[in-house]
Amino acid sequence: MRITLSFAATQDGYLDDNTATRLKISTPEDWEAVHALRSRHDAILIGAETLRRDNPTLKGVATKVVVSRSGKIDPQLRLFQASTGRILILSEQPIPALDKVAKVIVARAPLTAARIVTELERRGVERLLVEGGAQILRQFIEEGLADEIRKAVNPAICLGEALGSTPFRYTAPEGTPTREEDLGGMQVTHYTLQADRTAEDLHYLQAAIEASRNCPICTTCYRVGAVIRTADGTIYTGYTHETSPTHHAEQEAILKALHAGADLRGATIYTSMEPCSKRASEPESCTELILRYGFSRVVFAAYEPSKFVCCEGACTLRSRGVAVRVYSSLTNEVLQINSHLF
Ligand SMILES: NC(=O)c1ccc[n+]([C@@H]2O[C@H](COP(=O)([O-])OP(=O)(O)OC[C@H]3O[C@@H](n4cnc5c(N)ncnc54)[C@H](OP(=O)(O)O)[C@@H]3O)[C@@H](O)[C@H]2O)c1
Repeated sequence: MRITLSFAATQDGYLDDNTATRLKISTPEDWEAVHALRSRHDAILIGAETLRRDNPTLKGVATKVVVSRSGKIDPQLRLFQASTGRILILSEQPIPALDKVAKVIVARAPLTAARIVTELERRGVERLLVEGGAQILRQFIEEGLADEIRKAVNPAICLGEALGSTPFRYTAPEGTPTREEDLGGMQVTHYTLQADRTAEDLHYLQAAIEASRNCPICTTCYRVGAVIRTADGTIYTGYTHETSPTHHAEQEAILKALHAGADLRGATIYTSMEPCSKRASEPESCTELILRYGFSRVVFAAYEPSKFVCCEGACTLRSRGVAVRVYSSLTNEVLQINSHLF
């Protein structure tokens, strides 16, 4: 998933004041650009406190997502009464009061940003816009789950500690590529924390899918292909059961790389299906191997269906700092190659 964080702050770094009504920080020009940004994403996410305090409709995006632990959300809020599209509520427990107005997803605790992203991606979200508030933005940044950040600062508004609420001051790591613009007096900075590598990803992912076609048909496992691209650009390929009836595709490619003396730190592995997180017939899962050898990115086309086990590969990798990107446009091709199992 590609994730953008976007927020508007006062000159002294507040997202809101301490009055009951929402503080208007953005200029009309900035607000127009935010709407254009929303239209380039397929889902928008906010925290429950923003929903309660601002009562927004979140127009302009097909899927609206709210996260809540307490479940204290009024079904009469404008999001449920005045907005169209899909509304998802992510929580660690059921929220019966919302069942008629939204789809409540009960996720496994703890509901970290890594789990939020994984749950949404499993439901087809590919481009997520996170609009805050401060608590949510902090979680995504702390877990390293922001690809781009849009910070809009209004230098004409300075609240001071007595008036400001929800402080959020973002400083990008040194050397982060940035682009700046002035939108009607609003100083907008765009930070790119992870470059978009869609073209390269799709090329190698397609090669991994092609490799999966070599797998013999087997009723107890998926036909999967994998391609490793090391930091120096060397390629290694593997597919399920290529040299052993207990080897997975990722494992086959990793073994080839290790036999060739390759350094896998910082490498990317492209695999047609989510790396497994549990193995009965081998000492380590593919997720554990990917972590042990220091891969920095994992790109795949299909989440593992829940036919054999409940796979936790993507969420585990994300929560351990590995960048994960899924291309759902290729999911059906992978499921087709595995149609003997369904
Ligand atoms: N200027 C801007 O661009 C901007 C944008 C957005 C919001 N805001 C402002 O920000 C303020 C709200 O910010 P905030 O930091 O107080 O709150 P917030 O981030 O909007 O929401 C926090 C709430 O989200 C839920 N939550 C957070 N992390 C969760 C997790 N991992 N799992 C499950 N639920 C989780 C919890 O809801 P429960 O309490 O229900 O458990 C938590 O209390 C508002 O005043 C709003 O106006 C400003």
